[in-house]
Amino acid sequence: MSIGILSIGSYLPERVMTNADWTKLIDTSDDWITERTGIKKRHFAPEGVYTSDLVIHAARKTLARARLAPTDLTEIIIATDTPELFTPDTASLVQTKLGAGEIPAYDLAGSGCAGFVQALSVARSRVMSEGGKILVAGVELLSRMMNWKDRNTCVLFGDGAGTVIVAETKDSEILATYSGTDGSKADILCLEVGGTRRPITVEIASDPSYPPVVMKGKEVFREAVVRMTQASQIVLEKARVKLDEIALIVPHQANARILQAVADTLKVSMEKVYVNVQDYGNTGSATVPIALDEAIEKGRAKPGDLILLTSFGAGFHWASAVVRL
Ligand code: ACO
Repeated sequence: MSIGILSIGSYLPERVMTNADWTKLIDTSDDWITERTGIKKRHFAPEGVYTSDLVIHAARKTLARARLAPTDLTEIIIATDTPELFTPDTASLVQTKLGAGEIPAYDLAGSGCAGFVQALSVARSRVMSEGGKILVAGVELLSRMMNWKDRNTCVLFGDGAGTVIVAETKDSEILATYSGTDGSKADILCLEVGGTRRPITVEIASDPSYPPVVMKGKEVFREAVVRMTQASQIVLEKARVKLDEIALIVPHQANARILQAVADTLKVSMEKVYVNVQDYGNTGSATVPIALDEAIEKGRAKPGDLILLTSFGAGFHWASAVVRL
């Protein structure tokens, strides 16, 4: 027996926002967004739908595919930067809505787009020490937290969720994981309002630029390429797997140009890299499980295949994993 992924599922809310839709709200164009990011559309959750709801949809699919009941779960870990409440965490809300019983449930919050792969690594270690079946989610409801007037950032993001169950199995194996952090770059990509540094005041909340998302795009771009490439190389070495043996790379979907640059640096063809950023935009910590689920559904990743996951996000954090499906 090994520790692997028992099943996977994802969920995207129905409402689709195209680049043309954005041109009606801000000074932008389909050409600019497509050329700079590769994004054509993204999904946004309607009013009344919250972060835990996105997870519940994905989790029910994932449980059904594994033929498990919510009460079979022993732990829930949720990676998100867009929690439903400031406190308690989204995992508490998911635990009760799912009917999972009084198991430990906690968020891995604020790791940006690297959160899901970090959480996968934590789940693997937890199963190693305690056994059990852990639901791991990557979820974002970024449409609710981004600045709809800031064209530099708002066109990039989308909403969605992806979940996996990590457990002992003979069919799949998480061969190795790797992650790292450089907190000296925290201010390059952040949302500082709402924390203790800048609590929300009436003045801040009524400022038309609220919420002020800080993002130095070019620096984030450069660092994302370097870190996702390095994280890929290091985890492959840890797993004693050669890049040639990898059937598919499933990277964090931030920007098509970033993915092309990672492929170029790794010297692999784009055929080996799964890309769906054009359809969903950047769904933060949810991009990797959404992309992996879609790759499996489309037959791009099959049982027994070796898959390389690599991700990068605010922090800066980066995380990677080699998984045999
Ligand atoms: N529509 C039209 N023009 C725009 C838009 C827009 N939506 N957004 C910015 N611009 C303008 C700016 O105002 C600026 O104009 P100026 O030159 O007159 O001042 C110009 O376009 C900026 O152009 P560039 O600097 O050449 O843009 P660049 O090629 O760097 O692309 C982008 C910007 C897409 C943000 C890129 O830097 C990027 O993708 N960086 C990574 C950011 C990222 O992925 N963030 C997500 C979170 S982190 C993560 O997931 C890894």
